[in-house]
Parts: sequence; C-alpha cells; structure tokens
Amino acid sequence: MTTAISVTGLRRSFGDQVVLDGLDLTVAAGSVFALLGPNGSGKTTTVDVLSTLTPPDAGEVRVAGHDVVGDPRSVRAAIAVTGQSTAVDDLLTGAENLRLVADLLHLDRRTGRARAADLLERFDLVEAAATPPSTYSGGMRRKLDLAMGLMGDPRIVFLDEPTTGLDPRSRRAVWDVVRGLVAGGVTVLLTTQYLEEADQLADRIGVLDGGRLVAEGTAAELKRQIPGGSLRLQFADRPALDEAARLLRTASVDVEALALDVPSDGSARALRNLLAVLDDAAVDVADLTVHQPDLDDVFLALTGRSPDAEVSTP
Ligand SMILES: Nc1ncnc2c1ncn2[C@@H]1O[C@H](COP(=O)(O)OP(=O)(O)OP(=O)(O)O)[C@@H](O)[C@H]1O
Ligand SMILES: [Mg+2]
Repeated sequence: MTTAISVTGLRRSFGDQVVLDGLDLTVAAGSVFALLGPNGSGKTTTVDVLSTLTPPDAGEVRVAGHDVVGDPRSVRAAIAVTGQSTAVDDLLTGAENLRLVADLLHLDRRTGRARAADLLERFDLVEAAATPPSTYSGGMRRKLDLAMGLMGDPRIVFLDEPTTGLDPRSRRAVWDVVRGLVAGGVTVLLTTQYLEEADQLADRIGVLDGGRLVAEGTAAELKRQIPGGSLRLQFADRPALDEAARLLRTASVDVEALALDVPSDGSARALRNLLAVLDDAAVDVADLTVHQPDLDDVFLALTGRSPDAEVSTP
C-alpha cells in the first residue's frame, strides 16, 4: 500500500486550548478517509495543518511523501483544498473563475481550457458557467468551488464538510464527484457531520474527540464495536406490557413508555418468532420498530454526544 497521508503525534494548540493532542492518522493512496467529530473537535484544524495553512506545534505530518513543515511547496503542488468558506469570486462568471485559477496555476491555454471544460461537464455546470456565481444555488457554488480546486489535477483532495447545508440532490452530486475522483486514483480526506456520508463514501472512518482519534476503521468495523440491534415493542396498556415482559425475558422494560426493548438482529425470522410468542399468549402489540445500529450510535457511544448536537459554550 502506498501512503498518501501520514500523521504521527500531531499537536496543535491555540493559546491555552489544546485542539490536537497527539493525533495519529494514515491514509492509503487512492482511498477515501472520513474524519468525523463533534463541533470544535479539530477537524478543520487537522485539514489546515495537512494543507499547510496552519503549522503544527509538534509531530510529523507527511502529505504525498512531503513534510508539511520542511517542504510545504511540494505539498501544495500535490493537493487541492475546498473549505468551509468558499473561494468563489462573484464578480466573475463561473468560467472566468476557472480561467483565473488556470492562470494562477500557470497552466498553458489549451490545458487550462480542456480541464475547465471537462470539470464544467462533470459538475453539470456548462450552462451556469456563463453567469456569475451570485446567481447560483448553494450546491452549484459548492460544485464550482470544488471544480476550481480540481483545476490543478491534484493527487490528494481535502474536503472540509463538502456537503453541509446542501439539499439531498446536490449532496448526491458531490458524492458522485468524490467517487469519480477516487476512480481516477485520487486520495480524498473529507470531514463531515453526516454519518451517512461517511458510510456512503469512506473506505475508512476516524472519529476525532479530545484531540485524538478515539476510533478508526471501516464503517462495518466501527458498527461492530457497539451493541447490536433491537426491537422496540409498544403496548396499549400496562397488563399487556407486563405479560409481554414475562414472556420475553431478555427484554428491558420501559414502564413509562409502555414499551419493551428486545435485543435482536432485526431479521424477518426473529420478528416472526417474537410475534408468534406474543400472539400465542394473545398479547397485542400496538407498534413495533426495528433498530439497527448505525454510525450515529457509534458516534454517540464513542463521544457521548450526537453528531449534530449544538456546541455548549461555557
Ligand atoms: N485560529 C484560531 N484561533 C483560536 N482558536 C482556534 C483557531 N482555529 C480553531 N480554533 C479553536 O480550535 C477548536 C477546534 O476548531 P476546528 O475549527 O478545528 O473544529 P471543527 O471540528 O472543524 O469544528 P466544526 O465542526 O464546527 O467545523 C475550536 O475550539 C476553535 O475555537
Ligand atoms: Mg470545521
């Protein structure tokens, strides 16, 4: 395996506040790594260090084989970054924005034009390219921003919350772009608040909390680290609940909600067996929901908060 990004013992503080406290991270070339973490956990700081925008206080950080401190120019030549704040210029048209980037990169005319045309096509922005981005939707802006980042034909792409605030359709469009990049051998490190996004895109996922990765692995590996699924059965009254609790010994009882939680793999067979037991005893089930563990559960179990929880200000 070729390593695209390797981070060892990365530390970064702002004043007294330790944000990254010995972060270790390895990303294989041609893979997608998703960095998950609550607000303020240091995701953007990590991306900033990896993309040479912020120097590390300590640790070794190599991107595309180059040290971010010793050889930032080589790192910059290999990467593209699209961030939470977008680089799009509203006084230019979409096409002019791309041309500007081509000039900044000193691409020759033909290469610049060919890449711009290809990117506009891929991002479905061909028509929009004639107008300024001020007329675009949020998703179109994000796509133009991403296209600008890709003009340099980067080997490694950093995406800081690429789909936050986008509608489902635009989100899918960005996902398709990421998949297309990876198919072309590009390495992608993205941060996200959306566990579904990590689940959909990432080969490996790291959960950032307290300045370190508290878990790292494939989505399936992370899900395996937490308790399995369950069935929640709802009853109309207390006698039904009590009778069901007597029959289903593994269940935990929620008296207030008149509900039972039964550990289960959630399969059709398990459901059938369970309902048969209750049916035989003439116990009516008012409602039933299947709960499969997802990355939300992983996140909650590992960090003690749900991913979209508000930051508490002291
Ligand atoms: N330039 C800076 N000066 C001072 N503090 C900073 C600076 N940049 C980041 N921080 C602090 O570092 C912490 C981590 O910030 P960071 O932006 O990396 O978090 P994040 O995980 O990207 O959060 P979010 O999900 O909200 O984007 C925050 O508490 C933030 O206030
Ligand atoms: Mg951030």
